[in-house]
Amino acid sequence: MFPFPFSAFNFQNSVIVILILMLIIKLYIECTKGVCKSTKRLDGKTIIITGANTGIGKETALDLASRGGRIILACRDLKKASLTKDDIVQKSGNCNVLVKKLDLASLASVRQFAKDVLENEPKLHLLINNAGCGGNNKQYTQDGLENQMQSNYFGHFLLTNLLLGLMIKTAENEQENVRIINVSSDISYFCRSLNFEDLNFVQDRTAGTFLAPYKIYGTSKLCNILFSMELANKLEHHGNAITVNSLHPGSVYTEFGRFSSMFSAMMIIGIPFLKTPKEGAQTTIYLAVADEVANVTAQYFRDCKIATPSKLAQDSGMAKKLWDVSETLVHLQSNEKFF
Ligand SMILES: NC(=O)c1ccc[n+]([C@@H]2O[C@H](COP(=O)([O-])OP(=O)(O)OC[C@H]3O[C@@H](n4cnc5c(N)ncnc54)[C@H](OP(=O)(O)O)[C@@H]3O)[C@@H](O)[C@H]2O)c1
Repeated sequence: MFPFPFSAFNFQNSVIVILILMLIIKLYIECTKGVCKSTKRLDGKTIIITGANTGIGKETALDLASRGGRIILACRDLKKASLTKDDIVQKSGNCNVLVKKLDLASLASVRQFAKDVLENEPKLHLLINNAGCGGNNKQYTQDGLENQMQSNYFGHFLLTNLLLGLMIKTAENEQENVRIINVSSDISYFCRSLNFEDLNFVQDRTAGTFLAPYKIYGTSKLCNILFSMELANKLEHHGNAITVNSLHPGSVYTEFGRFSSMFSAMMIIGIPFLKTPKEGAQTTIYLAVADEVANVTAQYFRDCKIATPSKLAQDSGMAKKLWDVSETLVHLQSNEKFF
């Protein structure tokens, strides 16, 4: 339509505009990245991190090990976890790092892990529920729960309940602030409803469609936030010095894309804009160590600041209902219930 030099000029201009826009976005991301500045030591503190063999969990473990904590890497693949442990010990100079088997997609494994911790650890100061998978095709575990829902949410719900007694005892005996941190995601904003009759997506209308795995992932991450809110609420009524917060780590270049071709493609295309795992771990580390959040509970964080989660994630009625349904789905026994 236009003579060649003119269209070429337009093309050049378009490329320049796109590059400038990319630069502005990059600058914005760089300027808003949260960094944990606390130099707090964690000597004498026991810390559990789920999914700590890679990505954000591994970077969190390395940082907290460097602060002198006793770090339990709670992982499903013992070989990978053992290599990670060696790397963390070497880089941090802290030998007090151990691996324990935890597969969140198995309620029996969660119970076995908790039993091991309760028998062998006299105290627990920090529980970081970090493990997660996303975008996997719908599949069911041996417990009859949807795999993403169980790995990201139900497994952590059960684990936290089983370890609550030990954490409360630690808080009481040591007059110490004890913290529970749930790694969620801003993808929870896309979850527009929660069907308590079908939390495992058995009858879901989108089943089998391209979007189904992402809908399940978003739902599991919404559940992480609602769970944090309700647990914080229950603990506050109980008068204990335990805080519970959730967070979005940012968009981070990790192995997370291995579960789904769409996430994998997004990670490759988005590389220039993604955080490194170390940057992605900053908000978790901040919530674990910073003095200014010692008494902050039931909040959602992004870039080391309080953020507002979706409307649904602030619905306390939903949070209560989710707790009750979850107790039933993980078969929480009366001797396992703290509240
Ligand atoms: N990366 C991002 O952009 C991003 C954004 C928002 C939120 N997040 C959240 O951040 C957390 C960490 O993700 P990441 O990016 O670090 O991903 P990652 O590199 O894939 O690490 C995920 C970790 O979770 C473990 N895991 C998955 N399913 C498990 C199960 N059933 N039982 C025990 N461990 C299990 C993995 O173990 P294996 O190595 O054995 O698979 C791995 O250690 C996740 O909760 C994720 O939802 C990430």
